[in-house]
Amino acid sequence: MPATLRISELPAHLGTPVAVNGWVTTTRSSGKIGFVVVRDGSGYLQGVLGKKEVAPEVWARFETLTQESCVRLHGTARADARSPGGVELSVSGIAILGASPDFPITPKEHGTAFLMEHRHLWLRSRRQVALMKVRHEAVQAIRDFFHERGFYLVDTPILTGSIGESAGTLFETEYFDLGKAYLAQTGQLYVESACAALGKVYCFGPTFRAEKSKTRRHLTEFWMVEPEVAFNDSAANMRLQEEFVSYIVARVLDRRKAELAELERDTKPLESVAPPFHRIRYTDAVTKLQGLGSDIVWGKDLGAEDEAWLTDGLDRPLFVMNYPKEAKAFYMKENPDDPRTVLCDDCLAPAIGEIIGGSQREDDHDRLLARIREQGLPEEAYGWYLDLRKYGTFVHSGFGLGVERTVQWITGTPHIRETIAYPRMMYRLYP
Ligand code: 4AD
Ligand code: MG
Repeated sequence: MPATLRISELPAHLGTPVAVNGWVTTTRSSGKIGFVVVRDGSGYLQGVLGKKEVAPEVWARFETLTQESCVRLHGTARADARSPGGVELSVSGIAILGASPDFPITPKEHGTAFLMEHRHLWLRSRRQVALMKVRHEAVQAIRDFFHERGFYLVDTPILTGSIGESAGTLFETEYFDLGKAYLAQTGQLYVESACAALGKVYCFGPTFRAEKSKTRRHLTEFWMVEPEVAFNDSAANMRLQEEFVSYIVARVLDRRKAELAELERDTKPLESVAPPFHRIRYTDAVTKLQGLGSDIVWGKDLGAEDEAWLTDGLDRPLFVMNYPKEAKAFYMKENPDDPRTVLCDDCLAPAIGEIIGGSQREDDHDRLLARIREQGLPEEAYGWYLDLRKYGTFVHSGFGLGVERTVQWITGTPHIRETIAYPRMMYRLYP
């Protein structure tokens, strides 16, 4: 029995009999020579067979292969510079492990609605495979970055009783005799408390927003990584962000060249992503935007179009700092230099807009309580959060980076729905 190998392992096994399991992406035949391309997740492999060289039943089986049949190929790998992965397989045997009659997604063009309905099968296409590999790399880079810098991972609850961001976008559910529970919009309040125990922490998981927005950059379920650091002020928080974002981009550029090429991403603009990022105060951004013709008024959050204008032509991301209090969440610390504003930043990536929201947190008990009351939040749910300001309060800051928007930016994907395997949106719960 020949060894069964993954396609990526073949270059180290040239010239010896091997077997490969995978799914057929395409076949073609001249009548005398047949070609079959298979995918096994580790790569793509072209198998070649001559009608005269193989047993008649092998050729007959080759001729029955259809798109996405699951097969086992036997043969000998040899170097071929023109093939993907640099290897080709001289096929001597074919076993059909799972037939695939009438695979719904054919090489012809399909509409997005059709592809989304068949997301479970669409995932097998080259583009989607490349996107998932880039996402995987970005996620691994995120974990490595924090691990290398002495952060502790703290997993925060998904079912919560405290509103983290905005009451308007909560998914709620009945929780036994305790009333309503919400799906977490953020793990931030919990990592804030954990950072008093461990100093430098992060949480990383799915977060939920009942956003009634049908935009190219909104999901109702997305993945967010949220570091929180004791004794970091807002300026240190931004330095951490630019270092972090640059690290993720550099990692993907280094290890996912083939996937970025598959996605036809021009990587030039990504190569200049390095600290320091550009910086502008919100108030100055509003003046600039009004000059460009935006109808933004001071006090309102920036719209997608405003963000696009601000980042147009930039070689690296832009921090917009010190938003007005009324545009941001209750926990942000007042800016002593301009008390109408808070010590916060949004990190905007060129063409995508906001990928990070971050801030220094209000560490004064009475001011925080006043903000909770001003915003009409249920005070009793925040007793534990206020305790942090009672027992050894401390300067601290953190931020949240959205994984899907980051992948969208790095890959240059127009719509966020392709950056997660099973996107959840207002109008999509299947498959
Ligand atoms: O700016 P946001 O709402 O910040 C927070 O949740 C803070 N608690 C983070 C913190 O300070 N620990 O969200 C952070 C990021 C956004 O910049 C964006 O990348 C992503 O989360 N995000 C979304 N991604 C996809 N779909 C949505 N509906 C998103 N909402 C936010
Ligand atoms: Mg935000």
